[in-house]
Amino acid sequence: MNLEKYELKGELIPIVTYPDTLLSQVAKDVTEFNKDLQHLVKNMLFTMYQAPGIGLAAPQVGHGIRLFVLDVDFDREEVTTSSGKEEFRFSGFNPKVFINPVITGANGTITYEEGCLSVPGVYEEVKRHQTIHIKYQDLKGNFHEMEADDMLSICIQHENDHLNGIVFIERLSNLKKNFYKKKMLKEKVR
Ligand code: NI
Repeated sequence: MNLEKYELKGELIPIVTYPDTLLSQVAKDVTEFNKDLQHLVKNMLFTMYQAPGIGLAAPQVGHGIRLFVLDVDFDREEVTTSSGKEEFRFSGFNPKVFINPVITGANGTITYEEGCLSVPGVYEEVKRHQTIHIKYQDLKGNFHEMEADDMLSICIQHENDHLNGIVFIERLSNLKKNFYKKKMLKEKVR
């Protein structure tokens, strides 16, 4: 799978929502870099773009493995087709996949209003590191490292939290955290 030539194709995978227990488990290392993994990544990217979201971690789609995808660069535009139908047009894809990521360094702080596909309708400011250094593997199992800042850094930290069973609202004050937990539970029961 060549991420540089990404096309919007795949199958939608259902996204689990908070407080599903899948979201509070620590994910396991990816050990097999095979076709199944490529297939999962392709469908995760498709699901992420359709949602739309800028990041999606494997535990959010029911896979307890250390993997997430993201794209902080794409554009989504609502267009009216010649037949009068409203649809979304995507452009500027820059999909990235991080497997078995480890944040090995962090600097500075940055606050940004975050949201999460597993916590629909909730947007809250979260404090993160401005710059991070990360080591990770690609779809072939090759090792890489990189420096990330601002949006990319925020998104990586948010997705990496999912691999450790942490949803962003758990980084809020106890008051806010409990408020959202109760709210989400009530919505689930309904
Ligand atoms: Ni999230």
